[in-house]
Amino acid sequence: MSVERVEPAAHLRGSLRVPGDKSISHRALLLSALASGKSVISGLSRGMDVSATRTIVTQLGALVRDEDGDVVVSGPSNGLVRSPRVLDCENSGTTIRLLCGVLAGLEGRHELIGDASLSRRPMDRVAIPLEQMGARVIGVGERRTPPLTIEGHRPLDAVDYLVPQPSAQVKSAILFAGLSAAGTTTVRERVRTRTATEDMFAVSGVTVRSANDGAGRIVTVQPGRPQCRHWRVPGDPSQAAFFAVLAAIHRDAALEVLSLDASVERVGFVSVLQRMGARVELVEHGTITSLRAESSMLHACEVHAHEIPSVDEVPILSVAAAAASGISVFREMSELRVKESDRFEGSLRLALALGARAWTEGDDLFIEGLGTAERFSDFTFDATLDHRMVMAAAVAGCAGRGASILGAETVASSYPTFFRDLALLQ
Ligand code: S3P
Repeated sequence: MSVERVEPAAHLRGSLRVPGDKSISHRALLLSALASGKSVISGLSRGMDVSATRTIVTQLGALVRDEDGDVVVSGPSNGLVRSPRVLDCENSGTTIRLLCGVLAGLEGRHELIGDASLSRRPMDRVAIPLEQMGARVIGVGERRTPPLTIEGHRPLDAVDYLVPQPSAQVKSAILFAGLSAAGTTTVRERVRTRTATEDMFAVSGVTVRSANDGAGRIVTVQPGRPQCRHWRVPGDPSQAAFFAVLAAIHRDAALEVLSLDASVERVGFVSVLQRMGARVELVEHGTITSLRAESSMLHACEVHAHEIPSVDEVPILSVAAAAASGISVFREMSELRVKESDRFEGSLRLALALGARAWTEGDDLFIEGLGTAERFSDFTFDATLDHRMVMAAAVAGCAGRGASILGAETVASSYPTFFRDLALLQ
């Protein structure tokens, strides 16, 4: 396990591009592999999570090559084929869950494995709906943690399924399976989660409809095969969130993150930061959105999980809360416990390591901030195989008094050049 030392930065200036959006990258690879013929992906994330998906689609029969900075995917004309190999999803929940949806509609049996982090994550949330559609999914214990065996079936039965937890991965697994179902598949969600799957299905010529339903949404998909596309992947807003908080809590910073996906389910963290008094804004230039952020005085606020549907930005917002004045509360955060690590415990541990007072009540996390990042302690933090915990700790160390991060190499799951990009701003 490597230890990365982050020193405090005297000032931070400049603009940067973060990696291509991870959610869109996984889906671009899967849709291109399912299509017949050649698709091009520009701006694909080079993180290891997306590489895992890339390797697996080649094992299922697609050809993938790099060409002039783009990635070219040739989907087999007769469709993906069963792979006799064990499919290694590494650290990536999106890979394993979306793939379950794809493999559910492919005749034959597949084995899926992951690293120690993924092997702790519940797959019953995808297994249950996919079994209702006619696939078999075997995992370990009641929560069906990996390794998984999935036995596909074609055609699958169409279902009408209400997803019990807010999860874009679960919604997407069912929608991918719906491509191989006999009839209309309907997915209902109580809280609107990111729409990359529905949006990209529509662009691929798949018949998909989506309608708001109170705070949630109803999505229907017809069986069909996606068409080849040229996918252009925008920057990942969840990565931009680290630089937004870094600029906001640092005493001398002005940063810009260029070319982002700014879909509404992804940028809830911007409104939260603005509510805390941060000088952070999304700036549109035609169809492209950038994020600008500068040094700010933050005050506490209350954040509810539905404002940030996949709760990806809570670890970094808890660093903002630790630098703010007053008591912030993050409500209904149970989903944080089943991410790459237990981020509920990790965010608490990080706030405490910074010297803030922090505690939990049920699924709510409370952080009493120190009023400024300059009062953060120099701290040591174990990132527990979680890329977002690495970056949250690094931001705190850079704006505060330094940090030593154990297991920092995990950052490569989503952002292999994070530490280099951070250094370039100083
Ligand atoms: C993702 C959905 C989110 C998020 C993950 C990527 C996706 O998980 O945490 O990093 O690409 O669908 P949920 O399934 O919990 O929403």
